[in-house]
Amino acid sequence: MSTSKDQDSTISISEDREGQVLELDASLWSDDSLSMALRDVLTTPPTRVSLWVDHPTEDTDLLVGRLGLQPQRDLFRMERSIPLEQTTDVTTRPFVVGQDEAEWCEVNNRAFAWHREQSGWTVEQVAQHQLEPWFDAEGFLIHERDDRIAAFCWTKVHHEETPPVGEVFVIAVDPTFHGLGLGRALTLAGYQHLQSKGITRAMLYVDAGNKAAVTLYRDIGLEVKTIRRLYQFAR
Ligand SMILES: CC(C)(COP(=O)(O)OP(=O)(O)OC[C@H]1O[C@@H](n2cnc3c(N)ncnc32)[C@H](O)[C@@H]1OP(=O)(O)O)[C@@H](O)C(=O)NCCC(=O)NCCS
Repeated sequence: MSTSKDQDSTISISEDREGQVLELDASLWSDDSLSMALRDVLTTPPTRVSLWVDHPTEDTDLLVGRLGLQPQRDLFRMERSIPLEQTTDVTTRPFVVGQDEAEWCEVNNRAFAWHREQSGWTVEQVAQHQLEPWFDAEGFLIHERDDRIAAFCWTKVHHEETPPVGEVFVIAVDPTFHGLGLGRALTLAGYQHLQSKGITRAMLYVDAGNKAAVTLYRDIGLEVKTIRRLYQFAR
């Protein structure tokens, strides 16, 4: 669902497991119209609401703060062109639907134990994603060590963007294997796969505070193009 206020500005409204999720791009709104629109949408706020704002400014913090919402964390949208200068020959295989779900959840949940959206995944959630039109097991790269999943890179192509953009949607290394070069290798493998599909733009989202990942992504040439800020009511 979305509500339109200005000609090009919308607030998209959806739900996640934590409650209502609002998303908007602050650069498309005047402060006054954004303030009024949010007052409309938040008239009877649910106990849990997450407001994601692209391109926030200090003024956005102030006006959203007057509605009782406080900044919680920033996400970076990082981008660059493909091909990358760095390459890898790491061995990967595609995700096998009906076989890998449970083990993948274990590795993912260990690696993202601290993360709000990416932790606690269930086999059912993976199955839901497999029904999405963009799902492609060939682009869900698995790296094994000692006959178990040690790292993975799940890619996603956004055909709705022009030119189509290739996203590293989820990447992680089992904590047992951190610091061995697998994070770099799997990220490169993901973008190499996207390149083989004719994709020329690379993209991913990462928590601004995820120092290991942001350092890695900058090192392979990705740059921050958009900041997405999460606001929530103080608890
Ligand atoms: C981020 C992650 C994938 C890195 O994987 P990794 O295999 O440990 O990293 P690598 O050994 O390949 O290191 C590659 C580069 O990352 C950076 N890096 C890795 N760990 C780091 C740390 N603790 N602090 C700062 N930089 C770090 C360095 O630039 C490193 O290059 P260098 O070894 O030449 O210095 C891994 O920490 C992980 O799975 N984290 C949890 C899941 C996650 O955050 N995924 C990313 C979400 S967008």
